[in-house]
Amino acid sequence: MSSDHPETALPDPDIDPRLREALGTVQDPELQRPLLELGMVRRAVLEADGTAVVGVLLTISGCPLRGTIEGDVQEALTGVDEVQRVVVELDVMTPEQREELKERLGHTRVIPFAQPDSLTRVHAVASGKGGVGKSSVTANLAAALAARGRSVGVVDADIHGFSIPGLFGIDRGPTKVDEMILPAVVRVPEHARQDTGTPGSVKVISIGMFTDPHTPVVWRGPLLDRAIEQFLADVHFGDLDHLLLDLPPGTGDVAISVAQKLPRSRVLVVSTPQHAAAGIAERAGTLASMTEQTVAGVIENMSAMAMPDGSMLELFGAGGGSEIARSLTERMGYPVDLLGSVPLDVALREAGDSGVPLVWSKPSSPAVAALARIAARIDGPRGLAGKPLGVTPR
Ligand SMILES: Nc1ncnc2c1ncn2[C@@H]1O[C@H](COP(=O)(O)OP(=O)(O)OP(=O)(O)O)[C@@H](O)[C@H]1O
Ligand SMILES: [Mg+2]
Repeated sequence: MSSDHPETALPDPDIDPRLREALGTVQDPELQRPLLELGMVRRAVLEADGTAVVGVLLTISGCPLRGTIEGDVQEALTGVDEVQRVVVELDVMTPEQREELKERLGHTRVIPFAQPDSLTRVHAVASGKGGVGKSSVTANLAAALAARGRSVGVVDADIHGFSIPGLFGIDRGPTKVDEMILPAVVRVPEHARQDTGTPGSVKVISIGMFTDPHTPVVWRGPLLDRAIEQFLADVHFGDLDHLLLDLPPGTGDVAISVAQKLPRSRVLVVSTPQHAAAGIAERAGTLASMTEQTVAGVIENMSAMAMPDGSMLELFGAGGGSEIARSLTERMGYPVDLLGSVPLDVALREAGDSGVPLVWSKPSSPAVAALARIAARIDGPRGLAGKPLGVTPR
């Protein structure tokens, strides 16, 4: 396309071969793809006096990361022998160029995770009642999977009670490229990365990131269903190994909406160890069987905490998780495991308040050991995410 804008049509923008390699290392911080590949470099010339002039097309005029992009280009080109000075000229894409970018990204307004060939493993984190730690578990499992080198998306499907931005310390809104919304990208801190060769990341979208929650981008109608649809179809997550959805408590409209849009999602039931199992299992099971979701397992949270004297404090009782797993196994007709028990841990709450998931900020804590084990269980071999596991009965 874009015969009107021949200067942006790849493969042939005006790029000095001496700059190409260094420039090729610069990624768009939100799209996490090289600027060159995205058609965002309009020209890059090296003048006789050693001045490199690079024209970069931003997706939108108010691009919050323009400074980052400019700095990254500066840094990359300063390393080139012939370059004495770098001048970055920023411009903004025309609507046609934005269309071309979206095309290049393969962005269409369908839900990519619902396509039969999607390799993304989708986990819907649900609970029978509120306050059991769904959001904390979602954020920390996402952080743990990313530390394993995975590319992870988190959709905060709790529209009214959103808490995911706070748990990741996200304080700015998403970038909108026409109807396409770019999620916030949170990188795994270096010290928390496992040696997998790929630095993982967590891409987050939440209603809480939109400064005005009534902005028409999300609230085109008053319906929660429409917001969920936009989160799944209009947000450009790119290739993900895992997508986690933090559902509101219970089995209301949002849970049904998610189940209908993502029938292949696997439900993770979070519960405290209290014996309220039967009802929770019944509700989760009914929803899952209505919508063809699979219940992938139970996570018990706020389980016994080791006290300084060595005794265990069972503040919220004991045994509830395995009881729910048992009831669900019966209800669903296939084995539903207790995937793990996450102990009560003051550090988990503190980390939530500080905006850095505990899995990254204090890997030595007892809660992290449990969360990391659960993450390992729901993770699969690279490239196989989303494919039915051999052990999945159904
Ligand atoms: N294992 C734990 N140890 C200590 N505190 C925890 C633990 N899990 C969660 N919390 C704390 O409990 C509170 C509720 O957790 P969280 O917000 O994650 O629950 P939720 O199920 O998402 O709640 P809601 O139903 O309101 O969405 C938070 O303050 C959180 O920090
Ligand atoms: Mg929550």
